[in-house]
Amino acid sequence: MTSEQEALKKPARYTVIDWLLTQTHQRRYMEIGVRNPEDCFGHINADYKVSVDPGYESSDNRADVKLTSDEFFEQFRSGRLTLPHQQFDVIFIDGLHLADQVWKDIQNALQILAPVGYIVLHDCNPPTRYHARESIEEQSPARNFWNGTTWKAFQRFRVESSKNSYVVNSDWGVGVIENHRNAAGGCLNPALNPFYEFATFERNRQQILNLVDFEELCRPSNDM
Ligand SMILES: C[S@@+](CC[C@H](N)C(=O)[O-])C[C@H]1O[C@@H](n2cnc3c(N)ncnc32)[C@H](O)[C@@H]1O
Repeated sequence: MTSEQEALKKPARYTVIDWLLTQTHQRRYMEIGVRNPEDCFGHINADYKVSVDPGYESSDNRADVKLTSDEFFEQFRSGRLTLPHQQFDVIFIDGLHLADQVWKDIQNALQILAPVGYIVLHDCNPPTRYHARESIEEQSPARNFWNGTTWKAFQRFRVESSKNSYVVNSDWGVGVIENHRNAAGGCLNPALNPFYEFATFERNRQQILNLVDFEELCRPSNDM
């Protein structure tokens, strides 16, 4: 799979997000890491939407809240920043793609997620170790394509939490965490990849990520 093929895979992340929003009660959406709203945020059909981004990658920052995710969560928690809603039905985490930041974003997002709610994470399924390099600046055979180490945060979540989680096998891996459902098989076995090695991840990505097709997900009464 080349980078160009992966980039063209369908459905796009916003199609997955839109479908998840239809499964919720109030369709309140938050996107962390927005860059160009035309690429994703603008496509989302929700009853309420809010975007958070410090503007590191755009000269014209059009996010509603111009803060890092850490600053946003701290100010929202303390009441220094208020929004019309206290909870959100789908929270899309697509900010800094490094495992420790993604882990923090997941933990913070869980605090404000509706009981029937979903966390969505972009870039969970890097095709090669080059896409999964730690720094976007590093010269790489993947050129400017970069998924970072989000996959490690997702693996850790699946090891430590019994909440149901899976990755839709499209658009660089669209990770989903369900707040309201536990995984049928329990947590991921930590012995599968205890040292977070990329080669081990590659051999076991189906199981580590719980890769699913979008069609499977949308099927009524799926047990994913
Ligand atoms: C990959 S882009 C987001 C793309 C967008 N969500 C989409 O689907 O097209 C990543 C964005 O995350 C932002 N970002 C970087 N560090 C961040 C942080 N600590 N908190 C929130 N956003 C951050 C960058 O400014 C950039 O705009």
